Amino acid sequence: MFLTKYEERMLEGEQGSIVKEAMEHLVKYGDALRAERFVRVSSVHISLAAPAALPQLVQNYEPYVKAGVAAFTTTHVAFFDVNRWSELGVSEEAAKIQHNFMDLCRKHGVNMTYTCAPYLVGNVPRIGENIAWMESSAQAYANSVLGARTNREGTYSAIATMVAGCTPYCGMHVDEGRIGTHLIKVEVGLGSSYEYSALGYFAGEVSGLGVPVFDGIAGRPGLEELKSMSASLATSGGVALFHMPNVTPEASSVEEAFRWDSPGDVVYFGRADLKATCEFLSTSTEDKTDVVVLGCPHASLKEMEYMARRLEGKKVKEGVKLFVCTAAGIRDLAERMSYVGTIEAAGGMVLTDTCPSIIASGGLIPGGIERGMTMATNSAKQAHYGAALLEVETLFGSTDRCLDSAVSGKWR
Ligand code: F3S
Repeated sequence: MFLTKYEERMLEGEQGSIVKEAMEHLVKYGDALRAERFVRVSSVHISLAAPAALPQLVQNYEPYVKAGVAAFTTTHVAFFDVNRWSELGVSEEAAKIQHNFMDLCRKHGVNMTYTCAPYLVGNVPRIGENIAWMESSAQAYANSVLGARTNREGTYSAIATMVAGCTPYCGMHVDEGRIGTHLIKVEVGLGSSYEYSALGYFAGEVSGLGVPVFDGIAGRPGLEELKSMSASLATSGGVALFHMPNVTPEASSVEEAFRWDSPGDVVYFGRADLKATCEFLSTSTEDKTDVVVLGCPHASLKEMEYMARRLEGKKVKEGVKLFVCTAAGIRDLAERMSYVGTIEAAGGMVLTDTCPSIIASGGLIPGGIERGMTMATNSAKQAHYGAALLEVETLFGSTDRCLDSAVSGKWR
């Protein structure tokens, strides 16, 4: 790889052993990707959390955090709600280790957002900005909806970029990596988020690591629909970028999305495909609901408002657990607006910093959820991972249907 003088000096250790180690890693990473050079990044999104069962793992990140941040940095979810840890069965020792580590991160300039949707809480790169983000749903959202440029970074490549400030210039960073590969012709009207989530799940499976281009979308999906779709595209597949002419910013027509070349594969998504995808994501054959999980990816303020209004004056059925997942920054606003109060007065739990699937991936099962239970959700991603990590049966449907089932205990 070609290195600038500045990058060479970092590699030689001028900025200390950790930056040197990070550069060594990034050079190997860049060579493997056949990148010719690095590009500076303006934003990094990184995981700095450790499972509650192995809290001391955060110590691995300490030298990097102490080396300081070379770009604006936010953090991906934690393995538990860092304020309501005791309600989740996290030990005092694990919580203390995490809190001490948060203090260290704060001191060294890491913004402890603990969210899968950093674009909801101030990490909002603009079109064309080179960034280095981990978390697949956020990568797809940043590349597609914001028009920023990130590869599919993992924990270590993102942490190395956090201290070195650069990433290999290849893949999603270059124009050639952003050309459409699959044309998805949508032949059914889509209304709410869960339908976009289903479309994303379908298209992710079809596109794999490609760049799907959507044609025929009748409505104008907003942040919430695109957030949900970004997550599901990166769940059934590994999609890091999609184009939706007149909705996403990089291609104003299908032709432009394919750079005036002919689309490789053309796939149709009709009413029957929507139905089949929703059925595939619903493994339960029963009409009862034990658990409801909403806010995957983390709920926006608008979603918090909607859920609070729908729950006003209602009560979650005894024995049913309702989790609403969001970021701490959104929770604060939702608290100010009494949305948190309304949801919790109804019997729901506003879970911050994490979600049930992530908690389970860290070795804990949140109270109220047991293996074999039936979990309702409006998110294809939560249904997909919930089934695997929480070992629950799933019901996939609209936010309204999920909230109604939390109140009645029935899936109707
Ligand atoms: Fe976020 Fe958990 Fe969904 S990390 S994207 S709420 S699976």
